[in-house]
Amino acid sequence: PSKVAITLHVNDVPRTLTIASWTTLLDALRNDLGLTGTKKGCDHGQCGACTVLVDGRRVNSCLVLAIMMNDARVTTVEGLAKDGALHPVQQAFIDHDAFQCGYCTPGQIMSAVALISEGRARNADEIRELMSGNICRCGAYPRIVAAIQQAMA
Ligand code: FES
Repeated sequence: PSKVAITLHVNDVPRTLTIASWTTLLDALRNDLGLTGTKKGCDHGQCGACTVLVDGRRVNSCLVLAIMMNDARVTTVEGLAKDGALHPVQQAFIDHDAFQCGYCTPGQIMSAVALISEGRARNADEIRELMSGNICRCGAYPRIVAAIQQAMA
């Protein structure tokens, strides 16, 4: 099988990996780079568990090939905390107990980080709309919205 060498700038660290051309960004992160914070739920773009930021924008990492991301800047949940301090969105999720099983949480948090930086959500309804690509099987939605509102404040 044909393998390709690519470089991803993951959480500000350049990482060169040699992968099969059909490897998704999700599998490259989890299997080749050991960054298992990004979760695989549906593996076909429906749940949002695999959400990461590519050049600051939300991407379902199961839907893109890693080779398409060559030289891109990828941020995963492992890259949010800085200098021993949680990112404000991570802290808000803890403060509001905004999870139950926790499987969707990394994707929820990455999505929330992006929507806050985009500045598009002004109220709870808009947060719900902009977070609608992230499914929570436990139904923690009210607490997720409350956490995002805290992080936006
Ligand atoms: Fe990518 Fe569900 S695992 S959207």
